[in-house]
Amino acid sequence: MSQVPVKKRSRCPQHATPPPVHLEDPVRFPDTVLCLVEKRMGASRRAFLTSLARRRGFCVEGADSKRVTHVVSEGNSGDEVMEWMKRKGSCWMDALGSGPALLDLSWFTESMSAGQPVEIEPRHRLGVTIRKEEPEGRRQVAAYICQRRTPLAHCNQALTVALETMAEEARFCSSEGRSLAFSRAASVLKSLPWAVRRVQELSALPCIGEHSKKIIQEVLEDGTSAEVESIKQSERYQTMELFTQIFGVGVKTASRWYREGLRTLADLKAQHTKLSREQQAGLQHFEDLQIPVVRSEAEAIGQVVQKAVEQFLPGASVTLTGGFRRGKQSGHDVDLLITHPEEGQEVGLLRKVISWLDSQGLLLYHSSQRNTFYALEEQEMLDSSTSTMDRFERSFSIFRLDYLSGGIQRGAGSQEPGSIMSGFGATRSWKAVRLDLVVTPYSQFSFALLGWTGSKNFERDLRRFCKQEKKMALNSHALYHMEQKIFLAAASEEEIFQHLGLEYIPPEERNA
Ligand code: UTP
Ligand code: MN
Repeated sequence: MSQVPVKKRSRCPQHATPPPVHLEDPVRFPDTVLCLVEKRMGASRRAFLTSLARRRGFCVEGADSKRVTHVVSEGNSGDEVMEWMKRKGSCWMDALGSGPALLDLSWFTESMSAGQPVEIEPRHRLGVTIRKEEPEGRRQVAAYICQRRTPLAHCNQALTVALETMAEEARFCSSEGRSLAFSRAASVLKSLPWAVRRVQELSALPCIGEHSKKIIQEVLEDGTSAEVESIKQSERYQTMELFTQIFGVGVKTASRWYREGLRTLADLKAQHTKLSREQQAGLQHFEDLQIPVVRSEAEAIGQVVQKAVEQFLPGASVTLTGGFRRGKQSGHDVDLLITHPEEGQEVGLLRKVISWLDSQGLLLYHSSQRNTFYALEEQEMLDSSTSTMDRFERSFSIFRLDYLSGGIQRGAGSQEPGSIMSGFGATRSWKAVRLDLVVTPYSQFSFALLGWTGSKNFERDLRRFCKQEKKMALNSHALYHMEQKIFLAAASEEEIFQHLGLEYIPPEERNA
């Protein structure tokens, strides 16, 4: 088929210059030079208004004239007028106000009635977005965390720390909604590529409520927020923070202990408080578990687990997830995901691995959960989609990390090479580290990887996005289309993002 050139559509002639001046129209106001914007006004109305103005002694010129003092338009925003003038060759337009006045037709009609140019009032002026202080992208912050890139390092640290304290305090009061609101506000600030300096900048951002705004304003003005400082000083906040840091203790238990008058770890011990096996281990290893785990330690533990896994199931893989996969150099625990390319081979593996680690004296505590996902009914899949709990075969343990075996670099808190200080001043060559092992069938691996990479805020919003925007349910096992009633398979995280119509966000940019 031959290509016939498409004839250019003939359009109404667009005059950059207005109709010719008639000699019988003397110029009475030489300092006022009008330009009438044809966009929306139309060519014939513009011609009519031009001759009307000239008959009254006004000077009217084209958009390319440097003499124009008053730009008059009808039904356009200031930004649209700027755009139109630029297209017509007015390189002298300046959004900061040094160019001609951008006016609504009301100024024109009032001037025509008055028989002379009326004084320009604010109501005559068209607003223009000032772009000089506002680089591209500032105004475009997506509403969902999973639509944004959130790097590890950001420019609003003081603000996010304050907001996260507020979120934590709300969580300690079991006010989940309030806690979420502060967390979301903090997440927005973490994603900004610039430092917020004025509260006015917040108006264009999503998820910043009035209370968050107040906290931000205090920090911007005074360097700290009085409300945050008083929370941090409060006995309840300090006690709740201490108790919830114990492995196995949640907000409910910590609140109960606080109500019972307990304030310190010594109180827990002295009062013979009833503790679960997990909490006992948490209390016993409290000091070690407070010390951040560094990447080299996480990798060393990963290698020990890999060795154990290989013994029982050659070809199985061990993947470091959680904060370390997002690029963090330290964290509160080590999250490892185990799978095997041949589906079904992984069944029963965790029990063997745990037994072996235990026999080597490497587990200070462990509790396991068998895989209950296959027993799930469809409705439960929908219900569980918003919860972070999953149904994999998994183990929550406390690992004994030995520095003397295998060249492990010390983490923070260590005092001498290959040793750490215990609370009583004696040195020892090992440290307790929280370890989560999760075994996943190969077909669910991408979902588990996405779910376990975090951050928690990122995961929560990803699941909310699925439900609210896509009518889908996502968890660490699968993606389910609620209307089509089908599971959507994915061999990689990228494929999951594709199913959701989301731009792929790499792990390092999920630090919300
Ligand atoms: P973590 O609590 O370990 O967070 O959970 P993290 O980001 O690695 O933080 P640090 O660095 O250890 O302090 C990691 C991810 O695993 C998911 C969480 O939602 C989080 O995104 N997770 C955790 C689950 O899916 N299920 C769980 O039972 C626990
Ligand atoms: Mn972790």
